[in-house]
Amino acid sequence: MKHPAALFVFMAAALPFAASAQSLSPQQAHGRQIMTQNCNVCHLPGNPGNATYGPPLNKGAANGDDKLMKEVIQNGLVRMPGWKYALKDSDIDDIIAYARTLPLTVPPPPAARRAGATPAE
Ligand code: HEC
Repeated sequence: MKHPAALFVFMAAALPFAASAQSLSPQQAHGRQIMTQNCNVCHLPGNPGNATYGPPLNKGAANGDDKLMKEVIQNGLVRMPGWKYALKDSDIDDIIAYARTLPLTVPPPPAARRAGATPAE
């Protein structure tokens, strides 16, 4: 990194929604990153009328069954693509580990979602 200050700017931008992530393990934090990059486009309630809108990913996803959730992520569903060729097995495990930290209903903070959608790099 050319400028250590750039990291600080990124951290400051990330602070409003990083607060809730402080207690994440490295595996969960990695899962959060993978989920943000690949899944939130369909799985955040930004556009519920959209045909690609998926149910919230949290501790209740796939009935709270980790094995079932992994199968769904690997093979996809009717309106959801499968990820077994796009994501590593361990990435999928990390996503599930992160999803299980999320409460059943996540009140979506619109400002934080916007910040999360375009991380300052
Ligand atoms: C193109 C939009 C789209 C993307 C991208 C997407 N999903 Fe989905 N997902 C859906 C839809 C829509 C459903 C609802 C089932 C259906 O109609 O196929 C779903 C269902 C699911 C379910 C089952 C939820 C339940 O409780 O039954 C899981 C788990 C899931 N997705 C995980 C993921 C993960 C993890 C990613 C990222 C790696 C992801 N999805 C990316 C659209 C998407």
